[in-house]
Amino acid sequence: MRASMAANGSGERCKGVSCMWGDPSGLLGGVALTAMAIAGGGQNKAALDLLSPRPGDSIIELGCGPGMGVRAALKRVGRQGFVAGIDQSATAAHYAAHAVHGACLEGRAAIMRAEAADLPFRDSMFDRAFAVNSFQFWSDPARALREIARVLAPGGRLVITQRAAGHDNATNFAGAARGMERIGQATALLKAQGWRIVDERCVQDGPRLLAVSVLAERPA
Ligand SMILES: C[S@@+](CC[C@H](N)C(=O)[O-])C[C@H]1O[C@@H](n2cnc3c(N)ncnc32)[C@H](O)[C@@H]1O
Repeated sequence: MRASMAANGSGERCKGVSCMWGDPSGLLGGVALTAMAIAGGGQNKAALDLLSPRPGDSIIELGCGPGMGVRAALKRVGRQGFVAGIDQSATAAHYAAHAVHGACLEGRAAIMRAEAADLPFRDSMFDRAFAVNSFQFWSDPARALREIARVLAPGGRLVITQRAAGHDNATNFAGAARGMERIGQATALLKAQGWRIVDERCVQDGPRLLAVSVLAERPA
């Protein structure tokens, strides 16, 4: 598998199997995208519940993977709304476009291969933005957050959600053990850029910690 630009929070290029999650491509990438589509429902729901989109809203998902988050967001915004999904991986963008092709044909959704730090959209185009299990791979998260602020309208809100596990959870599936730490890093960067932290939330699945999120409003 090729070396990738995806970085694991440290700015280092990921290599080999870890790229399955951070920049999926080829056969292994396809396996990872299928696993994300099956296992990511709880985190997508946690992110969208906190984001509270309104009917008719325009939303962007950063690092949309197989497109399940875009699909769930489309249900929340209704037929008058619009949802864009971007992903740096061509394979992921292909999967996502397939997942929401009907909405794309109707002009209610768009999937693009793009970097979170270089968004192909005009200023103030979106009401809401979200990223699920993606932030830890951004090679330049500070630049990405400035880009997200640029494409959000005044008062626009962003949710960053990470899969999480409590100390009592044995699983470290998809880096769950570091979910809390990653949200801490995101929150610190958001504050440094003048975003207003509106809420921070943990979601349980029975006794298990499932997701941690931060909700922030873009700098005025
Ligand atoms: C673990 S997957 C999560 C996908 C989806 N959000 C979900 O929860 O099922 C991370 C995704 O983020 C994408 N990604 C990583 N870094 C990115 C960046 N800098 N810009 C855009 N997408 C990125 C990867 O290509 C991958 O598809």
